[in-house]
Order: sequence, then C-alpha cells, then structure tokens
Amino acid sequence: MATPPIFTLLLICCFCLKIVISATTNITTFLTDPETLLSSSATFKAGFFSPTNSTNRYVGIWYNIEESDAMEIVWVANRNNPINDSSGMLIISEDGNLQLSDGQNMIYWSSNVSHQANSTSVAHLLDTGNLVLVSSATGMIIWQSFEHMTNSLLPQTRIIIDLTIDNGLYEDEKPILRSWKSASDPSNGRFRIGMIPFPITEFVTRDGDKTYWLSGPWNGSLFLGVPYMSQNTFEISFDHLEDTLEILYSVANVSLLEHFVLNYDGNVVLKYWDDDDRRWRISWQSVQSECDIYGKCGPFGRCNPKDSPICNCLNGFEPMNVDEWSEGNWTSGCVRRTPLQCSNTGRKADGFWKLKHMKVPHYITFGRAADEDDCRRKCLETCSCLAYAYTVGIGCMIWDETLLMDIQVFSGDGADLFIRLAYSELGDTQHFINHLLLNSKF
Ligand SMILES: *[C@@H]1O[C@H](CO)[C@@H](O)[C@H](O)[C@H]1NC(C)=O
Ligand SMILES: *[C@@H]1O[C@H](CO)[C@@H](O)[C@H](O)[C@H]1NC(C)=O
Ligand SMILES: *[C@@H]1O[C@H](CO)[C@@H](O)[C@H](O)[C@H]1NC(C)=O
Ligand SMILES: *[C@@H]1O[C@H](CO)[C@@H](O)[C@H](O)[C@H]1NC(C)=O
Ligand SMILES: *[C@@H]1O[C@H](CO)[C@@H](O)[C@H](O)[C@H]1NC(C)=O
Ligand SMILES: *[C@@H]1O[C@H](CO)[C@@H](O)[C@H](O)[C@H]1NC(C)=O
Ligand SMILES: *[C@@H]1O[C@H](CO)[C@@H](O)[C@H](O)[C@H]1NC(C)=O
Ligand SMILES: *[C@@H]1O[C@H](CO)[C@@H](O)[C@H](O)[C@H]1NC(C)=O
Repeated sequence: MATPPIFTLLLICCFCLKIVISATTNITTFLTDPETLLSSSATFKAGFFSPTNSTNRYVGIWYNIEESDAMEIVWVANRNNPINDSSGMLIISEDGNLQLSDGQNMIYWSSNVSHQANSTSVAHLLDTGNLVLVSSATGMIIWQSFEHMTNSLLPQTRIIIDLTIDNGLYEDEKPILRSWKSASDPSNGRFRIGMIPFPITEFVTRDGDKTYWLSGPWNGSLFLGVPYMSQNTFEISFDHLEDTLEILYSVANVSLLEHFVLNYDGNVVLKYWDDDDRRWRISWQSVQSECDIYGKCGPFGRCNPKDSPICNCLNGFEPMNVDEWSEGNWTSGCVRRTPLQCSNTGRKADGFWKLKHMKVPHYITFGRAADEDDCRRKCLETCSCLAYAYTVGIGCMIWDETLLMDIQVFSGDGADLFIRLAYSELGDTQHFINHLLLNSKF
C-alpha cells in the first residue's frame, strides 16, 4: 500500500529481468524473493526458501539438485527471524553489507561487518557452497557464510577455534554448529557442537547444558570414540597455532557431494548424494545406539549395544542402587566392591583389568610417560589413578580422582583400557596378563 509506485515499477522490471537472466551469479544490487543465486559450476544455489510444512521465508544455501524432495539446506541467514510473506529482498546496503529486509524495509538479517560508508561490495556464491561478500575497492572477502555456519559443515570449511576462551560450550559460547528446532523450523535448536581442545582434542555435542555425545580423543588421524572412522571418505586436519586451533574438513573425492549435519534430534550425520538412487543417504552417524548417548550406564558402568541389557558394571563394581539398576534405570551407575590397596601395606598390590576395543571414559589427564610400562607404573604409584590407556598417537592417558563415565564396548577399533582393581578382584587370567606386562621390560 505504502510502496511508492516507482519502487513497484522497479521491482516488476527486476522480476522481468530475472526471467531473462535465469542464472544470477553475483549480487551487485539486490535479489528478490523468489530469485536465486547460482554458484559458478552450478553445484549450489542461494536464495529464498520455505522449509517443508512452513510458509515462512528464509534466505539460505542448498544443493542445486532438481529433485523436489531433496532440497538439502546447508545454511540459513535469518534462522531466528523469518519473513512471513514474499516481500523479502537481499540487498547490498549503502555501507556494503549484505542485508535482508522486507517490503516495509524492516531488517531481518545483516552480514553486519563494520565497513566504510559508501563502499561497494559484491556477493558471490562459490562452488564450495560458501557465500562470500567481496569489497569492490580491495577485492578482499569481508564476510563469508563458512565463518557463520548454522547446522551443516561443508567440505573445505576451515573452523577456527579461539583457544583463549574455553570452548566447552557451557555458557554462551559460539558453537561450531547449532541444530534446527525441528524439520520445519531452522531457528536455534537444543543441540550444539563444540570442541574441547584440552588436554586432548575432542568434539562434543551438548543438549542445552548436558553432554549428549563425545567423539573421544583425537589421536592424530582419528577419534578414538568413533569406531571404523578410517573407513570414511573424509579427512580432518588440525593446525595448532598460537592462540587458535584450525580444523579443516575435506573430502578425498571432490565430486562426491557430502556434508555433516547436526540434526534437530542431536545426531551428527554424514550425508552423501547417491546419484544412482537420486537421494541423500547417511554414511555415518554419531548416535548409532543408546550406548553412544553420554553417561547412559552411569559412572563405572559399561555399555555394549550387543548385550541385553546394554548396561553392565565394570568388573569389580556393583550397582549403586540394585532396584533402579534392575529396572533399567542405570543413571546412578556402579560402585567399587573391594577398596583399592593403594599405599596401604599388608595386602597384595592392586592390578589392572584389561578391556579391549573400548570407547575410553571422559575427563582424561595427560600422563607424561616414556612408554606403556611407564604409564602403567605412573598409574599404580598414584593412589587416585583409577585407569590408564596407552595408544599410538596420544601416549599415556590417565583417569584420576574422578568417575569413569561414557565407557562403551566397540566391536572393533577403540583402545585397550586398563581398570585398576584390588588384587582379590582380579581373576587368574588378569593376574597372568598383569604378570606378563609387569615383567615385559625386566
Ligand atoms: C561476478 O563477479 C566476479 C568477481 O568480481 C566476476 O569475475 C564475474 O565476471 C562476475 N559475474 C557476472 C555475471 O557479472
Ligand atoms: C509435514 O506435514 C505432514 C502432515 O502433517 C507430515 O506427515 C510430515 O511428516 C511433515 N513433514 C515434516 C518434514 O515435518
Ligand atoms: C507479518 O510480519 C509483519 C512485520 O513483522 C507484521 O506487521 C504482519 O502483521 C505479519 N503478518 C502476518 C499475517 O502475520
Ligand atoms: C551488529 O553488530 C553489533 C555489534 O557487534 C550488534 O550490537 C548488533 O546487534 C548487530 N546487528 C545485527 C543486525 O545483527
Ligand atoms: C556518501 O555518499 C553520499 C551521497 O553520495 C554523500 O552525501 C556522503 O557525504 C558520502 N559519505 C561519505 C562518508 O563519503
Ligand atoms: C567420486 O565420486 C563420484 C560421485 O559419487 C563417483 O562417480 C566417482 O566414481 C568417484 N571417484 C572416485 C575416484 O572414487
Ligand atoms: C533414575 O534414577 C535417578 C537417580 O536415582 C532418578 O533421579 C531418576 O528419576 C530415575 N529415572 C527414572 C526414569 O525413573
Ligand atoms: C590412530 O589410531 C589408529 C587406529 O588405532 C592408528 O592406525 C593410527 O596410526 C593412529 N594415528 C596416529 C597418528 O598415531
């Protein structure tokens, strides 16, 4: 109603123009709903969309695949600020920012980079799916969607973690990815992915303030809590700089359309486009069974998806609350049956129970040890040491003065975990293994 006629005319003209030039590759002035921007090799599209079962309008990026049910949104600009009609316009504002507004000139989203007044810029959609804003004066990228990810991680993305702030994600820290609220609502959902950089790098998914999933420690080529990771198609590399950690995710085969998504249900999935079946498939997911959910079996519990029930106490431990445990409520976990001998004299020294192919517990301490024997000795000499593991790439891991949480039995990969127990809790086999290990060097 209040729209000046000249403006309406301009809009109509641009709409005509759009029909003529069907594939826009740069935004130099503006893009109106439902126009789209195409990446140079036409792999990605950016523009206006509505999620399934929603009439809200958002600006986003998706794979340029014709199948209508395959619209795979990988980025959303105004995720928490939808436009409720089709009057949206993505413009290059006077100060050179990329800005989303509606017919009433209300601003829904902005690239919001501080910039000189009257400077011009151009927006391009790169063939990696990265929407970049380039200053016309300097030719430099002043803003890019890869630095403001929503729920998806595309290959060639460089994640930069500021090591001067704790990235444990308990407060209001910026997550690497944040899930949608539901399949039809891209607004900030419950789940976030962060990175725990110390003492050993690992990824964490949190549900609000609760830990939901842990990748396990990074050994230099894979995460110990992700079995069969070496069989995957992607590569992750870490680059420790002074105050930052740079993570680069890449794929070996660039023609494979693949990306990670943090789903609204908290699952991290690796999706790829199956060209024969013409649909997206999942090649990996973080939560494959209940055992992958953090702390499923409580402290000193051990989860095995192949067991029934899935939770058991570690050897030498018994349920903290027998009634709860037998009803399948495992949250309070298990307690030690026989106290450790530790430095008390008069009894035989403590030993270790060896568990193979384990997802190792959380709260690791880096044990400085020359080799596995040294690691084992360090653990025995410290009364508070509850367990140790020694792996190639990481070395000596020690669990100290804490509860052993998130222990899972894998069918392959993982690590050998040694749980410290009183001598009387160790069976003949374990005594034999301990004897061998203790004497291997002497
Ligand atoms: C888009 O911008 C790039 C870089 O400024 C330029 O090389 C290209 O020719 C432009 N494309 C069109 C269609 O104007
Ligand atoms: C959309 O709505 C239909 C009907 O209510 C429902 O069956 C379908 O699961 C919904 N799709 C999504 C993605 O929410
Ligand atoms: C759409 O949003 C505008 C601006 O926020 C508001 O004034 C208008 O009432 C909304 N319309 C509907 C149908 O919700
Ligand atoms: C732009 O950034 C400033 C300062 O960082 C912030 O206060 C403001 O809310 C932001 N505006 C938008 C539209 O995001
Ligand atoms: C920006 O451009 C306007 C109109 O051309 C002009 O009035 C104003 O002085 C300019 N501002 C700066 C900071 O150059
Ligand atoms: C790369 O991926 C494409 C698409 O899935 C496939 O057709 C091709 O065979 C793959 N190339 C190699 C070397 O694996
Ligand atoms: C399981 O046990 C915990 C600890 O005693 C209790 O807080 C929780 O409510 C129980 N959960 C269910 C589902 O009974
Ligand atoms: C990480 O662990 C895997 C499996 O145990 C092993 O093959 C690989 O060599 C380790 N990486 C490094 C850098 O040691």
